[in-house]
Amino acid sequence: MTLDRIALITGANQGVGFQVAKELVANGVTVLLGSRDAAKGAAAAQEIGEGALPIQIDITDSASIHAAQARIEREFGRLDLLVNNAGISRAARSDGDFLEGYAAANKASTASLDEIRAVWETNVFGTLAVYQAMLPLLRKSSDARIVNVSSGVGSLTANADPSYPYHSMYGPVYPASKTA
Ligand SMILES: NC(=O)c1ccc[n+]([C@@H]2O[C@H](COP(=O)([O-])OP(=O)(O)OC[C@H]3O[C@@H](n4cnc5c(N)ncnc54)[C@H](OP(=O)(O)O)[C@@H]3O)[C@@H](O)[C@H]2O)c1
Repeated sequence: MTLDRIALITGANQGVGFQVAKELVANGVTVLLGSRDAAKGAAAAQEIGEGALPIQIDITDSASIHAAQARIEREFGRLDLLVNNAGISRAARSDGDFLEGYAAANKASTASLDEIRAVWETNVFGTLAVYQAMLPLLRKSSDARIVNVSSGVGSLTANADPSYPYHSMYGPVYPASKTA
């Protein structure tokens, strides 16, 4: 008998993560829909329906990561797929255009170190923390996969070409965090 595959997607209450959750469930995967806000995660899982189970996980909070790991261990005993999707492009939410003025304010010579630390805390160290915590569960799968959601703006290959449309915005905040 083939058991359902079990996936954990971080930051899956909206955006890319939510869509990936929806499509994996449609393909028969049991999806643990990660959300730092439990209520948002419950609402998103309910919208997808059977096969999507909400799980609270804030990737910058070690206690939250380890509670999620313990729950997955207890309820499933393994993980087949980890999608490291949760990410932020800036420290504070803003309704403004992300690209407008971005390059000038976010060069190595101008970027705020607090801004760099905040974005790297989520995109790099948070992602690494989830990876380390979930690895023992992934090792119990016979066919484990890890998907790290990066970005074209973090691609060193693309950015090596000066005509790449996002070349001018490459800097230490979001783009370099996605490279990392
Ligand atoms: N959209 C794009 O054009 C694009 C392009 C390339 C790559 N990406 C990458 O795709 C991924 C998803 O982006 P998106 O556009 O879907 O963004 P989004 O709509 O802002 O969704 C980001 C998700 O990450 C969650 N998140 C943020 N910080 C978190 C934390 N500390 N712990 C747990 N969850 C956290 C958010 O939770 P809340 O709802 O609570 O804020 C949200 O669920 C990111 O890694 C991003 O870098 C996006």
